[in-house]
Amino acid sequence: MDPQARPILREVPAYVSGRRHAAGVPCDVLLASNENPLGPSPLALEALERARLGWARYPEDDCADLRQALADRLGVPPACVAVGAGSTALLKLLAEAYLDRHRLLVCAWPSFPYYPVVAQLQEARTVSVPLDGQGRHDLPRMADHAAAASVVVVCNPNNPTGTYVSKAELEAFLDRLPDQVLVVVDEAYGEFARAAAADYPDGVRWVREGRRVAVLRTFSKVYGLAGLRVGYLVAPAEVVEAVRRVQEPFQVSSPAQAAALAALEDSEHVARTLQVVAEGRQRLHQLARQLGLGTYPSVANFVWMDVRRPAEQLAAQLMRHGVLVRPGPPGTTWVRVSVGTPEEIGRFEDALRAALGASG
Ligand SMILES: Cc1ncc(COP(=O)(O)O)c(C=O)c1O
Repeated sequence: MDPQARPILREVPAYVSGRRHAAGVPCDVLLASNENPLGPSPLALEALERARLGWARYPEDDCADLRQALADRLGVPPACVAVGAGSTALLKLLAEAYLDRHRLLVCAWPSFPYYPVVAQLQEARTVSVPLDGQGRHDLPRMADHAAAASVVVVCNPNNPTGTYVSKAELEAFLDRLPDQVLVVVDEAYGEFARAAAADYPDGVRWVREGRRVAVLRTFSKVYGLAGLRVGYLVAPAEVVEAVRRVQEPFQVSSPAQAAALAALEDSEHVARTLQVVAEGRQRLHQLARQLGLGTYPSVANFVWMDVRRPAEQLAAQLMRHGVLVRPGPPGTTWVRVSVGTPEEIGRFEDALRAALGASG
């Protein structure tokens, strides 16, 4: 690290993506990053083809068409929607707009590891509240800390456990918070949860009601466009304005905007994805039960499994079979397995049985 760089950068862990764990080992079954196993929406691919003559020009900076389409769909004004280069970019912008060395972020742990990182980059303090015994956000304990916070993040469903908090639970939590706290609800996997659980809440409803709630969503998961980097934020107009103030110009490329707009209309691809994920998730849960491995009931497109041996070691064994999964934090015995195609799950199952020495 350059000694001239900001001192805080020495303390910030580098983000390790799923794929980096594969360093030097070729894997063809990629179950580490919760991507769409069916690939991109065919309508998005067609839109990319049509849009390519415009690539010599800068993209439309305010993503007007995409914001309008999202706003229409969600029943909010376009002023309540911001688009960014993935929801991670929007998360970082929220941190830049709302956190500094005098402020506090509250989130759960284990949860998406980028939350504490964006706070740390702002030199803000983070309180990470452990999940409860069922791998779910401990909202009452989070509320105890939230009174002093500027931003509270609820990852719903939670990465890596796949668990969710219900509408009633989240509403009770919001009611306990002081007015100035901004509650960020990360719904990266919300589409899967909505299809799996009737009491899974639609965070946008609180934005419509004028609460200080900012919902993060993405085109990287159910829409299959992770490589293009598009996500969106639905929030009160003044929050969107603050985020836009810190967002660099032209953050979202024109191919990304065109593909996202088309993917949004591809209800067939979304429906097929939800179906494949629901079936695959059930199969992964069943496999874990058969092998006596702990899991939490997931409503997302991944399952968190207790493999009862060092997670890094098991992940390395699976890699030798060409299968990439995401080990939990160092020292844990949990791995996160994305729901793949039926063939990919078969490959994972064979590799897992071989690694556990339980071929029966
Ligand atoms: C909870 C959560 N939020 C956000 C993201 C990032 O999504 P994006 O590709 O939109 O940056 C992920 C990606 O895995 C995630 O798990």
